[in-house]
Amino acid sequence: MKFLVTAGPTREPIDPVRYISNRSSGKMGYALAQAALDAGHEVVLVSGPVALAAPHGAQFVLMMTADEMHDAVHAHLAGVDVAVLCAAVADFKPATYAPRKMKKRDGAPIIELVPTRDILASLGALRSKNFLLAGFAAETDDLEKNAREKLAKKQCDAVIANDVSTPGLGFESDENALTIFLPDHSSRVLPRASKHDLAKAVVKILCAMQQKR
Ligand code: PMT
Repeated sequence: MKFLVTAGPTREPIDPVRYISNRSSGKMGYALAQAALDAGHEVVLVSGPVALAAPHGAQFVLMMTADEMHDAVHAHLAGVDVAVLCAAVADFKPATYAPRKMKKRDGAPIIELVPTRDILASLGALRSKNFLLAGFAAETDDLEKNAREKLAKKQCDAVIANDVSTPGLGFESDENALTIFLPDHSSRVLPRASKHDLAKAVVKILCAMQQKR
């Protein structure tokens, strides 16, 4: 099978030296890419800026902003069987980019933000989609309610939720705990484990789902 995985944060530039981003290290997404490669699948990894080495054998696409990630994902859909969007894409970006460094002496700036395009929702809305689409949900509260809302709204085949308020799990850590929510109202709990082991389990589950379609 062919997997497309997104990983890491995006950076939304304010001026030549500043940007808006988040804490994603890329570890979860890179573990998914590696697990898919280890299981013998072809992998396209679309990654934001992280401090990890690209998995050997993956087609690696590096980008910075949400807009670039949107375009890179859509440009690499040919032949994809399973798309797993694990990247922590910025929901908002500055409305304008200041081409010169903003000066402290000018006082605290007011930065207007505008929404970025939602990559997951744009894939869910594709009429010609014949790949399995799984998104992630990073939640600090009401995990099931919020994840199920994303599942429906973004027209996914699965939403893989993690509680990012638990110390040692979620962002930056080597471990995580996941619950996979499915459109038939069922769910699969993958208890706390290394991101490596969780990724192996997720790849197996998504492959089985795609084979059944
Ligand atoms: O990278 P690590 O440090 O290992 O951390 C892993 C992780 C916590 C980043 C990862 O497990 C995770 O939860 N990734 C999704 C983070 C996120 O952006 O969640 P969200 O609930 O805000 O977004 C829901 C889904 O919509 C995600 O699949 C996201 O990729 C997608 N999205 C969001 C905004 C946007 N503009 N476009 C999108 O496609």
